[in-house]
Amino acid sequence: MGEFQEKILLVDDERNIREIYASLLADQGYFTAGAASASEALARIGEERFDIVFVDHFLGSDRGLDLIPAMAARDPRLSFVMFTANGNTDLAVEALKRGASDYITKPFTVAELLKSIDYVKRKRALDEERRSLEDTLRRTVEQKTEELSTIHLSVLSTLAQTVEKKDQGTYGHSRRVAHYAMLIAAAIDLPESERNTLRDAAMLHDIGKIGITDLVIGKKGPLTSAERDLIRSHPQKGFEILRPIKQFERFLPVVLHHHEHYDGSGYPYGLAGENIPLLARIVTIADAYDAMVSNRPYRSGGSHERALEELTAYAGKQFDPRIVEVFTVADSRYRHMFNLSGSAFQL
Ligand SMILES: [Fe+2]
Repeated sequence: MGEFQEKILLVDDERNIREIYASLLADQGYFTAGAASASEALARIGEERFDIVFVDHFLGSDRGLDLIPAMAARDPRLSFVMFTANGNTDLAVEALKRGASDYITKPFTVAELLKSIDYVKRKRALDEERRSLEDTLRRTVEQKTEELSTIHLSVLSTLAQTVEKKDQGTYGHSRRVAHYAMLIAAAIDLPESERNTLRDAAMLHDIGKIGITDLVIGKKGPLTSAERDLIRSHPQKGFEILRPIKQFERFLPVVLHHHEHYDGSGYPYGLAGENIPLLARIVTIADAYDAMVSNRPYRSGGSHERALEELTAYAGKQFDPRIVEVFTVADSRYRHMFNLSGSAFQL
C-alpha cells in the first residue's frame, strides 16, 4: 500500500452490509470501521480521525439525514456519502443539502462504491486546494493592509513632526509625548492590546495642525481670539484627516479629545471625567508634561519637579487626578526616563 488511503466509517444498522463492504474496501487497501447507530458513529469519530463516512438513512430510530450535520459539527473535515433506496431522489437531494458530497443507491456494486470514493477524494483535494488558496489570499491581504497602514502612519508622523517644528520650534514633541504616555501605560497596567494604539495615537495627536496656516501656527506674540479659535480647531481637523482611513479609527478618540479638561472646561466638546476617553486623558497629561519641561525658542524648559507640581495643582481640573498621582508615583520608579528634552536624552 504505502500510499495514503482514506479512512472510511460505514454507518449502517445492518451488520451484514457493514461487514461485506468493510471487507471489500479492506481488499482495496482502505482502513474501515463500522458503526451500527448514530450514537456509535458519533462516538467513533470522537475517538479517531476518519475522512469519509458512508451513512444509511434508516438507523433504527435515528435518521442518517440528521446524523450528517451532527457529525460535521464535530469534525468539519469529514466528507459524507448517503446510502439511499432506489428511486428516492428527494432523500438524495436533501442529503446533499445537508452537507453530503455524494449519494449512492442501494443495492450497489463494488465498482459504484469505489467510484463514489474516488469522486469524494477528488472533491476533498479540490476543497483543500481552495482552502489553502483562500488562506494565502487572506494572509497576503492582511500583510499588505498592515504594510500600507505602517506607511500611512510613518508619513503622518513625519508630517506631524514637521508641523511641530513650525509650531513650537521643538522637533520630537510627539515622540516624547508618546514616550511619556507609554510610561503612564506601564504604571497603570494598561492592557497590552491598547498600548500600541496609545503610542501611535500620541504620535499623531496634533496632526490636525497640518490644516492650520503657518501664519497662525508659528505666530510669536499674542493671538487674536479668531486665531485662538483656529488653533483650537486642530483636534477636529485631525479627526477629519484620519477618519477616512479605517485602520486609524482607533486613534480618533485621542486626536479629538486630547484638549478636553477633566472638569469639563476643555475643548472641543467640553467632556468631563470618565466621559473623556482614557487614552485621551493619558495623552493630555503626557502632552502637558512635555510642554512644561521642553526648551522653546523663547524660554528654556522648566524642571521636572516644577512640572510635577503643576500637574498636581491642576489634578481634577485639567487632568485626571488618578493618572496624575500614578505619574507622580511612577516618577520614583522611572525617574531616569523623565525630563527627556535635555541633552541627556535625545528623542
Ligand atoms: Fe494638541
